[in-house]
Formats: sequence, structure tokens, C-alpha cells
Amino acid sequence: MNSNTILNWDNTDHKEIYIRQLNNNPLYWNEDLNCWVTYSYNFCKAILLNNDAQIPGLALENDSLLNDKAKLLIKKLTRLSNNEQHHDARQAALLIYQNMKPLSVSKLLENLLSKVNTNEFDWVATVCKQLPVLVILKGLGFDDDDCAFVTDNISSLVKIMSPNKTESVAIAINRVVNEFYAISEKYIHSVNKDEEEVTELFVCNLIGLFIQCYDAGRGILTNTLLNLVHYHNQKPHLADIKKMVIETLRFDPPVHSTRRIAVKDILINGQHIKTGQSILIVMAAANLDQSIFKDPELHNPARNNNDQHLTFGIGAHNCLAKHLTIDMAAETCSFLSEKYGRISIPHQELKYEPQLNVRLIKELMLNLS
Ligand code: HEM
Repeated sequence: MNSNTILNWDNTDHKEIYIRQLNNNPLYWNEDLNCWVTYSYNFCKAILLNNDAQIPGLALENDSLLNDKAKLLIKKLTRLSNNEQHHDARQAALLIYQNMKPLSVSKLLENLLSKVNTNEFDWVATVCKQLPVLVILKGLGFDDDDCAFVTDNISSLVKIMSPNKTESVAIAINRVVNEFYAISEKYIHSVNKDEEEVTELFVCNLIGLFIQCYDAGRGILTNTLLNLVHYHNQKPHLADIKKMVIETLRFDPPVHSTRRIAVKDILINGQHIKTGQSILIVMAAANLDQSIFKDPELHNPARNNNDQHLTFGIGAHNCLAKHLTIDMAAETCSFLSEKYGRISIPHQELKYEPQLNVRLIKELMLNLS
């Protein structure tokens, strides 16, 4: 295995690898991964903006085990589609997203924290895995029972996005997907009566919002809290907190990479990416590109172009929930720093989830007093 391949986050200095590749191999053929890898800001951007670099279909090992609703979801999700299909699916996701009513994140937080002893609790399980999807559910007016089902079972459903599903993962998805579909269909029917095909697209992309917000939303709530405690005095202004959230998205992003496949030959920097070859786009490395960000290895919320980070992607598939995410994380940090005199993180060894496109802390014990 070559030293440029990340196999897990726990024992890997990923920034050291990113900086090395940025300097030596900004576009690199990785034998182990059998794919091209882009590290530099300009090469990541070039691929994400290139229509000949498309979203790869999910490898369908064990997908034959998935039930009809699960297969329908994979077929209709904006995140997994290209061209015309993508255009329609993204429109559907956007219309639902724009239907969300603004709400008080502080109220949701108060409710979540009322269920634990805030002297010592796991911030990830109590808040990070629940709040992002609750913001969507409550923003769309879902009732408590449906909210409870979705928050309790979203961790099983998100695995529908993983390329190589095990049999047990496929069984877990089948166990919950029909109820997700029924709950979402009830909502879509309550806001507009359309013929079946249109409803399917809306139902699937409503579920798509639940799926997309889970890992990334969890990650940003964990990483911003860590940075709030490490880099800030405890009473920062909201404006400063927003800058800190944006700098966290650049410096310590929850989403590190995404994938594309070349549907035509692509020439970059004199290197030929052949039709059919896979491309791993490491946006987290692009965020450390010193040709774009001054002193990129420094956490500096005051840097004037931090918002140029590529953590939300760019181009046709760029994240449609940037502002919601930044506001949610900023209001969360502002709520904590206003309500609690002391936010402290007891000494603990941080462990990371096994996924490699996202870098997620498994558990973060926290004291609030
Ligand atoms: C820190 C939080 C988040 C990050 C870093 C993030 C990042 C991303 C990225 C990188 C993409 C593009 C992937 C690609 O081009 O391959 C994306 C797409 C998407 N994100 Fe987010 N996201 C976040 C939060 C959310 C939330 C909270 C929602 C839901 C409300 C959401 C909904 C979506 C959707 C629906 C897409 C697919 C767009 C399309 O394919 O057209 N994201 N996100």
C-alpha cells in the first residue's frame, strides 16, 4: 500500500499527505485505489465543473437484495443522478428545501440537552446525530412521531449511499425504507397533489435531504464545537462565530472528498484521464492549497477568502444547503456560549468512523456548566 493512500483516520496524518501531494502530485494516479486523485484547488475545481466527469452509478453488489422502494430511491436521488434526470431531481430537492420555515435551533437544542446530564455527555450522539435532520423535519412541520421515527432510523438508511453494501446493511435498509417513504409521501401529498411520477421524484428527494444532512451535518456540529473550545474565548459574537464556522469548513471539513467517473477523455495539466476511469476529488486538500489560501495550515477565521473553500463542492452538484448548515452551526455555538459559563472537553482519545469520504468523530464527551 503506498503512503499516499488513507486507509483510516485514526492513525493517519492526513494533512501531511495532502500537503505533500499538493506540492508533488496535485493530480495523481493511485494504483491502490485504481483511480485518479486530484488534490490542488484548480484541479478539483476543473473536475467538479467538467460535465464529462459525472456521478458514478453505485456499484450494485448486494443491491439485488434491496427492496423496490430502496432501488427507486437510488434511481431518483439528485445526488446520484446526472444530466436531465439530475436537473429535475435537483429542482424537486430545492423546492422542498425552500418550503422549510425558519425555526429556533436554540429551542431544538434546549430540548435535546434536557434529555441528558450536561455535566458529562456525548455531544455526537445527543446533538450532532439528531439536530441536522430535526431542523429539516421541524422546518417542514413534521409531527413528533414521524420525527422520532426518522431520527431513530436515519443512521440505517444513509448506508444506501455506500458503494459496497454488506447483506446486513441491505437488510437494515429494507427494514426502514418503506416507512421513510410512507412518512415522506404523506408530507408531499399534504403540500401538493401531483401525478404519481412527479410525487415519486419529490418523495425520494425529500428523503434525500434527510440522507445528505446526516453525516455532513453531524461532522460540522462536532468540528465547530471543538474549534469553539480550542480557538475561542467562551463569549464570541455571532459574527465571529460565523467566521469560525466557515473557517472550520475550510480547515477541518466533515466532507473530505467526492467521486466522479470520466464519460469522455479529459485532459488536465497534460495528463490524460481516460473514458471510464474514476476520479477521487479531495476538496479537503484543495482547502489547504497555498496558491489560494495564505498560511493554509493556520486556523484563521479572519482570513478574507475562507468562504472560497470547496467543502460544499462546486458546479452542478454543489450543496444546496450551505446557508442552512452555517446558520445551524453558528446558532448552536452561540447558544452554548451564551447559556453555559463553561464549555470543556475532558481529555479523551478521539476515534473516527471508518468511512473515508467523510471524517467523523465517533464520540465526543463534553461538560457544560
Ligand atoms: C457541513 C455540512 C455539509 C457539507 C459539508 C455538505 C457537502 C456537500 C457536497 C460536497 C455536495 C456535492 C457532492 C458532489 O458534488 O459530489 C453536497 C451535495 C448535496 N448536499 Fe450537502 N453538505 C452539507 C450539509 C447538507 C445538508 C444539511 C443538506 C440538507 C438539508 C444537504 C443537502 C445536499 C444535497 C441534496 C446535495 C446533492 C445536490 C445535487 O446532487 O445536486 N447538505 N453537499
